[in-house]
Amino acid sequence: MSIQRPFATQIDLRTGLMSAYERHFLRHSGDMAGYYRAEPQADDLLIYEYFEREVPAEQGEIVQNITILHPGTIDGEYYMTKGHYHANGCCSEVYLCLRGRGTLLMQTRDGETDAQEYRPGASIYVPPGGAHRSVNTGDEPLVLFALYPADSGHDYGSIAEEGFWARVIRGADGQPTLVPRD
Ligand code: PA5
Ligand code: MN
Repeated sequence: MSIQRPFATQIDLRTGLMSAYERHFLRHSGDMAGYYRAEPQADDLLIYEYFEREVPAEQGEIVQNITILHPGTIDGEYYMTKGHYHANGCCSEVYLCLRGRGTLLMQTRDGETDAQEYRPGASIYVPPGGAHRSVNTGDEPLVLFALYPADSGHDYGSIAEEGFWARVIRGADGQPTLVPRD
């Protein structure tokens, strides 16, 4: 096991921009074929951005990351992350919402389900075994800081196949509504 040197990162609490990061990816609508109930009208819609302070993927290390989930819908379904289980089912995660409004959908492989509300200052615990997907239900970027064990791993395939227990859509009253998975 390697020993990390201490390091600090400056995070803009409004925009989520980190002063330094080692990993960064963008997800566009074209990267999420099959995730939304409707096909997006274009492949180049920027849905979210991810920034990470990378550390060795070893027990005892903790990953810090920022997600900037943009506002918008695809045929009334709010922009969301892909969502995943941690491949290591013992690994949890904590989200701190810095900006915006949204929903954190969770589920377990045993069929337990939950949804928590993101608003600035909300700190949400995702227990071990909980798949998690963030959804932006507001009209500004949803900015999330998260911490998870560096040996968590990611299982995207299960969610790509089974989806989440609910979709978050804009209801007839203009408000976010959870509808059961079709
Ligand atoms: O650590 C996490 O679980 C999050 O930061 C997510 O990775 C991030 O929100 C992007 O979602 P996903 O990894 O499901 O594409
Ligand atoms: Mn995670």
